[in-house]
Amino acid sequence: MADIESLLREKRVFKPDPAFAKQANWGPKKLAELRRLAARSPERFWERMAKEYVSWFRPWKKALDWKPPFAKWFVGAQTNVSYNCIDRHLEGEHAWRRNKAAIIWEGEPGDSRVLTFADLHREVCKFANVLLAQGVKKGDRVAIYMPMIPEIAIAMLACTRIGAPHTVVFGGFSADALRDRIVDLGAKLVVTADGGWRRGKIVELKDAVDEAVAGTKGVERVIVVRRTGEPVPMKAGRDLWWHDVMAQAPATRPAAKLDAEHPLFVLYTSGSTGKPKGILHTTGGYLTHVAATTHAIFDLKESDTFWCTADVGWVTGHSYVLYGPLANGATTVMYEGAPNHPGLDRFWAIIEKYRVSVLYTAPTAIRTFIRWGDEHPNRHDLSSLRLLGTVGEPINPEAWMWYHRVIGKKRCPIVDTWWQTETGGVLVSPLPGAVATKPGSCTLPFPGVEPRVVNVAGEPTKPGQGGFLTLQKPWPGMLRGIWGDAARYREQYWSRYPKVYFTGDGAQCDEDGYFWVMGRVDDVMNVSGHRIGTMEVESALVSHPGVAEAAVVGRPDEITGTAIVAFVTPKSGTHANATLRETLRSHVSREIGALARPAEVRFTDALPKTRSGKIMRRLLRDVASGKETVQDTTTLEDLSVLARLRGQEEA
Ligand code: PRX
Repeated sequence: MADIESLLREKRVFKPDPAFAKQANWGPKKLAELRRLAARSPERFWERMAKEYVSWFRPWKKALDWKPPFAKWFVGAQTNVSYNCIDRHLEGEHAWRRNKAAIIWEGEPGDSRVLTFADLHREVCKFANVLLAQGVKKGDRVAIYMPMIPEIAIAMLACTRIGAPHTVVFGGFSADALRDRIVDLGAKLVVTADGGWRRGKIVELKDAVDEAVAGTKGVERVIVVRRTGEPVPMKAGRDLWWHDVMAQAPATRPAAKLDAEHPLFVLYTSGSTGKPKGILHTTGGYLTHVAATTHAIFDLKESDTFWCTADVGWVTGHSYVLYGPLANGATTVMYEGAPNHPGLDRFWAIIEKYRVSVLYTAPTAIRTFIRWGDEHPNRHDLSSLRLLGTVGEPINPEAWMWYHRVIGKKRCPIVDTWWQTETGGVLVSPLPGAVATKPGSCTLPFPGVEPRVVNVAGEPTKPGQGGFLTLQKPWPGMLRGIWGDAARYREQYWSRYPKVYFTGDGAQCDEDGYFWVMGRVDDVMNVSGHRIGTMEVESALVSHPGVAEAAVVGRPDEITGTAIVAFVTPKSGTHANATLRETLRSHVSREIGALARPAEVRFTDALPKTRSGKIMRRLLRDVASGKETVQDTTTLEDLSVLARLRGQEEA
């Protein structure tokens, strides 16, 4: 492992609009005060967050118990996530929220439902009673494998109400993937549906559950929501319809008083190789972290309509579709289906229909919208938007500019939020009323968080110099371990630098203290002894007006050690020919240096991506070097993309 070189220099800076700053939840003054507090003591800062954003049944004795790499936050305290997300909006000064929309849901076929906080309370209590009646006790695990329908939120919140940790398995995963997770976690009950809608077709879920559960012991019940109405086999003695059990369930159930460190959920992330890791999050610290960051970073107001487009099956969906917004008493939008059904403008139609004011989406979606063309957003009234966010991958500066111009109409601040499944909530991000933004940078750490870019030896790098992104101090939303595998937890995150969390990302920190994530260190390319991150070369490609999206990988080369191969998706209407290929190679040379000039440019209409939309560069490496893929492709969203890339290679 050697250090990483940084080549990209982005000069544009966007200062917060004074009018926005004035109304911001965390304006410059508040932020400065909180930064001072956090600098004196991160624990004191997080205690203040815990008091301000969370209701507790019992206070803590100690803010943090840190025995590296194991942290306990708010030791001795008791709280409950569903209480914080629902009940407290029905009582006291917030009692008027009773009939406020908690969840605005839109199905792909165009059907829609609104659940007020009172509706949510009733449904969650009922399902909590169903779980208890079916023998699920505090500490028992529940697997959830559902489409994006309101019942997924109800099921998750009901689990938190009784202290049964949930694992949500994304509805696009196969029966095998579901079985692995059920077995690893020892889930006792599975909640699913007869199917869901995606691009006008039914995604079968119940068949996969039957297959997954067939080979396992331990799953006693399967509860099935009727969504599509398609007939599905129901196994007597095991399977129950949601509507049948809910019809008989009592509509109240007090929230269990749970220890701050009670397991809240386990979410599996596949990582680059091997068996998925069950990332464990617990109750009080996680809730504090997501509630505070939602309020500060998304500047959520009582009147906002917040739409995070992630699937609830990912951590972004857990933290910022459900728990963060609901803990703040905010209105959250959920959409079941695909962005291109029935037309390429579905997202913009939804924003116009519900007057969404804060939009949080992923660079992969933004690059897809760029490729589809500006006419789709331009057809809709997007004037309700006041703030935009992005998460999941580094955003190329030109994609940032497009988001700013075409979606935000140059009015809306953009928060580029860096975090991971493991971190629970956002750790590095602008605060929209107080931090100037630079396209492509996730800017500054949240108070109380201490990221640091270090070299191989663990020493801080100089400004502008690439290195490894670490987190120097524990934070409340951090993972508490890998389910059932403490050794892997130590090895994966805490072995490279003692007592320091290693993120697996390459990054640089500039002279203003701004962080620039350069991609995963596993994807770094070693060209003639220079280690180059993927993000900067891709950003140079995307800065060409004909390019919507790009991915670069290294392939072995006799002279340079590694040669850069660029896979490029042109914008619609662009002629992808030999001239463009040469233009792009010189363009990269000019933008960031001859060293990064791709040896080869290949055009493609799609890139291989994970189901959460991240580019899978390890598969592209095989394609680039003409190797058969022996790697795991189960997380690939569309297997045919790989076949098409290979076909092109032969042509
Ligand atoms: O490489 C970073 C990238 O996504 C990784 C975490 O992925 P996951 O656990 O799936 O969680 C995604 C949702 C939080 C990180 O290690 N990443 C995420 N957000 C950003 C990012 N890279 C650059 N900028 C971001 N804003």
